[in-house]
Amino acid sequence: MPAVTRSTPIDRLMRPVHRWVWGDVDRRVRKLLTFADVETDGGRDILRAAEVTPDPLLRRLYLEHAIDELRHGELFRRRGAALLRARSTGRKVLFNGNPLPGGHGLDDLQIEGEADHRLLAFLHIAEKAAAGRFASSRDLVDDAPPTRAIFEEILRDEVFHMNYTYTQLARVSPTLYRRHVWRARASRLWRRYLRVAAMVAGLFGAVVLTILYFILLPPFAWLAKRAERREPPGWTPISRERGASPTSQY
Ligand SMILES: [Fe+2]
Ligand SMILES: [Fe+2]
Repeated sequence: MPAVTRSTPIDRLMRPVHRWVWGDVDRRVRKLLTFADVETDGGRDILRAAEVTPDPLLRRLYLEHAIDELRHGELFRRRGAALLRARSTGRKVLFNGNPLPGGHGLDDLQIEGEADHRLLAFLHIAEKAAAGRFASSRDLVDDAPPTRAIFEEILRDEVFHMNYTYTQLARVSPTLYRRHVWRARASRLWRRYLRVAAMVAGLFGAVVLTILYFILLPPFAWLAKRAERREPPGWTPISRERGASPTSQY
């Protein structure tokens, strides 16, 4: 199994965008806080997995894993807060120019009703993605040794998570573990595709509606203005016949 930490092809493709994100203090803070949220949420979900699993060894490992993720969240949050305090610019609003997702993949985690083999396969894929993403991020923050040190530390944990989930998956499902990993990978890809497709559809809808607004609205506005010009100003007298009612005494 792959134990080394390498960026995924998508991460390598997105490297200019990652560089752009990490190249600005505001975006860097934003990204660290996003990582913090995803890690903390993932930690809570894995804590839930420790509660529901019937396997005593997995319960202990999930518990350690959850503690790691919660600590990662805390490390990211503290670093983001420290950067925020040290920021000397007068800008009051953080520009949310971060087009990248949280990075860990644990944000898609489902615990309830999931068998351990499915959960382990999902966790293995998510941890591998996280390790690749954090390795890439670590290389982009060379100018900030404290941030880089945090990535180094977290990366070691993510590699451990990636490895233990694979080993445990092979233990609980010795004959089908490879198939479970492939299924988890396909499911993750599908979710990523749906996320991107929804984003593109939203963007496309906004562009089309804007174009329609500028193409369809001007003729109606012109017709309304022309009708207004033809309308005589002030009160308009009506004929007596129109005011007569055949059924009322008034
Ligand atoms: Fe983590
Ligand atoms: Fe992890």
